[in-house]
Amino acid sequence: LVLVLDFGGQYNQLIARRVRECNVYCEIVPYTMSLDEILAKKPKGIIFTGGPNSVYDETSPTYDKAIFDAGVPILGICYGCQLMAYKLGGTVATAPVSEYGKTEVEVDSKSLLFHNVSSKTVTWMSHTDYIAEAPEGFKVTGTTKNCPVAAMENKTRKLYAVQFHPEVMHTQEGKKMLHNFLFDVCNCAGDWKMDSFVDNTIKSLRTKIGSGKVLCALSGGVDSSVAAVLLAKAVGKQLTCVFVDHGLLRKDEGDEVEAVFGPDGPYDLNFIRVNAQERFYEKLKGVEEPERKRKIIGEEFIRVFEEEAKKIGAVDYLVQGTIYPDVIESGLGKSATIKSHHNVGGLPDYVDFKEIVEPLRDLFKDEVRRAGLELGIPEYLVYRQPFPGPGLGIRIIGEVTAEKVRIVQEADFIYRDEIAKAGIASNLGQYFAALTNMRSVGVMGDERTYDYAIALRAVNTVDFMTAEAAQIPWEVLNKVANRIVNEVKGVNRVLYDCTGKPPATIEFE
Ligand code: XMP
Repeated sequence: LVLVLDFGGQYNQLIARRVRECNVYCEIVPYTMSLDEILAKKPKGIIFTGGPNSVYDETSPTYDKAIFDAGVPILGICYGCQLMAYKLGGTVATAPVSEYGKTEVEVDSKSLLFHNVSSKTVTWMSHTDYIAEAPEGFKVTGTTKNCPVAAMENKTRKLYAVQFHPEVMHTQEGKKMLHNFLFDVCNCAGDWKMDSFVDNTIKSLRTKIGSGKVLCALSGGVDSSVAAVLLAKAVGKQLTCVFVDHGLLRKDEGDEVEAVFGPDGPYDLNFIRVNAQERFYEKLKGVEEPERKRKIIGEEFIRVFEEEAKKIGAVDYLVQGTIYPDVIESGLGKSATIKSHHNVGGLPDYVDFKEIVEPLRDLFKDEVRRAGLELGIPEYLVYRQPFPGPGLGIRIIGEVTAEKVRIVQEADFIYRDEIAKAGIASNLGQYFAALTNMRSVGVMGDERTYDYAIALRAVNTVDFMTAEAAQIPWEVLNKVANRIVNEVKGVNRVLYDCTGKPPATIEFE
């Protein structure tokens, strides 16, 4: 185990990821975790992350100096590097010239950290403070034109530090440096694989939960499914999963979830499906404004879940399928609300439970998927596309009705079917059909029609924060459009959304 001590840097998740890519298990912990707690985890190494602060600012995150004497190898990155220098008696100052972006560093190839790294190597810098003078006992192992201490180390104490960011791709030999730290300095074995994560998590969940009762809100999405299966494997029938079908799921999705988690599925757990379609449609009657729809669906979901939870009575644990990017997003929390993201399964604060368990808290989406496959969850669930908590409720412009849900479900099903047949699914970030609230005149079999237009959306995106409209081959679009107007009653036009994000959003609401 390697611990990443989080000082609030923006690339922390990347550091963790890079470590796991070297088959070394890694957890991110806050800088507020005590040294005793850290050492109790018996880490083979600790990585200090970057952070936005200056070490001289009194409110800046800091750490007990004793950590440097604990005998555990430490790698400080950016702010972590400055903190190490500052705490150990070096000088940190405002750099006369800040470095941002690609910067060449001259490194000492004799250093363990830079073993097999070119003596002049391109790194990614982002700092306004710098180390003017390394602490006593430290050797400077890297310099740039403007930065006298771009890397330093105390080999005996196994303390290493770099001003640049080895975890980002722009640091061309960054992976090698992290590899060197993990294997040559920390002596990690590099034998961690997803199956170890799965086994260890099941074991530790079992120990933690004992004979306690566990409740899980299952949405059918990959995160809550993987979390539920981990818990089912750990504590079996002590787990109850409540699956609320709000009638706004994709075609057949409710039955697919039931097939996996219900009594005929492979797992030993209590599964409760609540068919609450009518309730949701009733609440949504006459409501057109998307934010209002989101709120209503979110609140109603919680109410339904609460009713079920009351029937079950007090539980000891509530399961959340939180994954690492969610942790970051909620941690930032300062950006403007574009739309109120509501995850079905969001925290109900009235359900009687003692503690939350979040077995996927340290994983990235693709790692969750790998864990899902490892657990034997069917591929169609594991590779399910992102789907918003409020579901089709926000892919229907204007009022939501059972009839409109049917239309968008069928159109979306055809779209996904043709994308799969064309074999282009893996090139696309997200794709779905939405129902515009626009009706227009058409002609079908000599008859005038006055029907809805379906909008097709497909985007390429890395992080879902920005996106480009995907260029779907015309033949595929043509086929989809033909099938939709022929097979879905109530639709006479199909449009393709060519807008990126920004200015649009990915969802069409
Ligand atoms: P937008 O539409 O904001 O979507 O560009 C970005 C990504 O987030 C998904 N999304 C949601 N996911 N609950 C979720 O769990 C929500 O309320 C929600 N709204 C949007 C969207 O599908 C896309 O992947």
